[in-house]
Amino acid sequence: MSFPMIALGIESSCDDTAAAVVCKLPDGTAEILSSVVQGQTELHRNYGGVVPEIAARAHSTQLDRCTKQALSEASVTLSEIDLIAVTAGPGLIGGLMAGVAFAKGLAAGANKPFLGINHLAGHALTARMTGGVRFPQLTLLASGGHCQFLAVRSENSFLRLGGTIDDAPGEAFDKSARLLGLEQPGGPMIEAAALKGDPHRFELPRPLSGREGCNMSFSGLKTALLHARNSLANDNLLKIEDVNDLAASFQQAVINIFCEKLVSALDIYQQRIGENAQTFVLCGGVAANSAIRDSLTKLCIERGVSFVSPPPQYCTDNAAMIAWAGLEIFRLGMCESFDLSARPRWSLDEFSSSLLDFQKKAAKF
Ligand code: KG4
Ligand code: ZN
Repeated sequence: MSFPMIALGIESSCDDTAAAVVCKLPDGTAEILSSVVQGQTELHRNYGGVVPEIAARAHSTQLDRCTKQALSEASVTLSEIDLIAVTAGPGLIGGLMAGVAFAKGLAAGANKPFLGINHLAGHALTARMTGGVRFPQLTLLASGGHCQFLAVRSENSFLRLGGTIDDAPGEAFDKSARLLGLEQPGGPMIEAAALKGDPHRFELPRPLSGREGCNMSFSGLKTALLHARNSLANDNLLKIEDVNDLAASFQQAVINIFCEKLVSALDIYQQRIGENAQTFVLCGGVAANSAIRDSLTKLCIERGVSFVSPPPQYCTDNAAMIAWAGLEIFRLGMCESFDLSARPRWSLDEFSSSLLDFQKKAAKF
């Protein structure tokens, strides 16, 4: 394997079509040569959530343009690419199929090796691309579809220590934003409103607080927010101060849940890995939230653990993380055949027991 090595990454697992070019240098560090993200917020605006069929069609039409743009911004031609890495799961089946078929076509046409990447591995390995983090590390992956504490032992060894038993935190941000009449994606909107609000005005629950382990629950939080909102609004019209206070109280509840469960996760990590965690990584879309980053940074300082989180644009979905994960995994000698297919429910940790015994239809772990 010769360095520098250049990968083209492709991401289409949910509602962002993304392509990126990342270079791994001989000293193991990364250079992100381009990162193009085409969101679909406008297309789904009137439906109260992402419509899978609309998302898949949009990916099919955007993948080609995003990839050309990523190559052109990186000043690299397809023939100079060493590896094509594509998200193969988990995610929405239509978007995944569009991305995988597109990557296979490129790989076949340009005669390049390609790899199917687990989207969650992409998030979990991002801090190595942006901050050179070493293994092993404790990670909290918090996004719109997932939430899990992971012991990340190597490029392809992830041990799940706990996770949400119902909604993902990003999903709770998005649903709560809708309840407050804020735009999507809800996370950044709630964060902005919370800056002007009082986080102590409403007493929202901290589900699973005081319980053993580092599992989390977020679905009751939005229901509590709904009740708090309904107790205020006449004619469904909330005052701006109420929106800000509700947003701040909601965000504070998420912060408290993360902080309490991080303390438990550090203990569990020590028991399972046999050493104290030196580094804690916060990743996934929710990691873009400054208030959450600040609170977890403070907690890590108190505990003597180094806190790392990628720059916000690499916390939310992007293809640079997929290109980088490809470069990391390719190093292990892995390569895909053209049999590769999309895996909409691809678990990162195939060995840990499912969280489904909490009698939920499907936990977002
Ligand atoms: O990682 P991501 O882009 O997509 C998934 O893999 O799900 O995460 C998207 C989620 C959305 O729910 C969005 O509201 C949330 O991340 N998010 C935030 C912030 N920015 C994005 N949540 C809280 N605060 C933010 N600043
Ligand atoms: Zn994601």
